[in-house]
Amino acid sequence: MSLKSEEFERQRECRVRQIEDILQSYLPVQKGSQRIIMEAMTYSLLAGGKRIRPMLMKETFSLFGGKSKAVEPFMAAIEMIHTYSLVHDDLPAMDDDDYRRGRKTTHVVYGEDMGILAGDALLNYAFETAFKAFVMEPEDALLIGRALSVLGEKAGIYGMIGGQVIDVKETGHQISKEVLDTIYELKTSALIEAAMMIGAILGGASEEEVRTAGSIGRKIGLAFQIQDDILDVTSTTQTLGKPVHSDEKNEKTTYVTLFGIEEARKKVDEESQDAVRLLKRLPGENPYLEELLIQLIHRDK
Ligand code: IPE
Ligand code: IPE
Ligand code: MG
Ligand code: MG
Ligand code: MG
Repeated sequence: MSLKSEEFERQRECRVRQIEDILQSYLPVQKGSQRIIMEAMTYSLLAGGKRIRPMLMKETFSLFGGKSKAVEPFMAAIEMIHTYSLVHDDLPAMDDDDYRRGRKTTHVVYGEDMGILAGDALLNYAFETAFKAFVMEPEDALLIGRALSVLGEKAGIYGMIGGQVIDVKETGHQISKEVLDTIYELKTSALIEAAMMIGAILGGASEEEVRTAGSIGRKIGLAFQIQDDILDVTSTTQTLGKPVHSDEKNEKTTYVTLFGIEEARKKVDEESQDAVRLLKRLPGENPYLEELLIQLIHRDK
């Protein structure tokens, strides 16, 4: 079963709007002498963005027929963690980029100090938000606990932060495919994996199904990062909403520098097709999710 691309696009936009409504509903009220930090959090979070992680979470949740309201605070939380990773990734000490999601980066608008603090604040607030799930759905406490531990681990030193550490440490060095794969699996796949695993957990999936959802996320994450490397070379700042040639500026080894664009494209295709094959092994059907995995290969931003 496949969705026609216009219909897919219509459904995608509708889902992005729903996710943004959820995000909006969990944002902190801008008040107190520290209100500048709430403003900076809102600025970076509502700047736009594809919302892939909460979308994958919700679609995996739906695949398993999930009904628990607990998924919403987790959708907001994962987008907050992802957004904080971007705010910090753009800092002068890291990739030093001035544009993100079509606007000036948070540190350019609010200063480097507030950029650092806004990232910290989003990370902390993500967990404050996810914890609200316990109050919303007390009978799902066990599942919520499992979901929280996945979120914590995949965002941390064994996940996204770990990947950023190796990425920064290896900047300017020629590295092997094995090291590059480790960086991608951690800095990018880990959060996408977490999104799909949490969707599965809260949707009531078995342990094995949760593992399969994680494997799909790992493949999609790898394909997603390689496509990001390709777009850094082939796209425009206007389309991407962030600077192109950032990797070259920072002397990053990427799939494009190691293998060239054609091979990189092949790898994106292979990993994505593998992910779709794995998805078909899971019970239930979600044609939108299947199409989303395929569309991610062809995305131009
Ligand atoms: C950018 O992520 C960073 C990578 C992991 C490649 P996205 O491409 O999902 O960024 P937004 O959320 O759409 O801005
Ligand atoms: C960053 O990878 C991945 C993160 C965990 C933020 P990149 O540095 O390639 O992401 P972009 O291109 O700045 O979005
Ligand atoms: Mg980076
Ligand atoms: Mg970057
Ligand atoms: Mg990039």
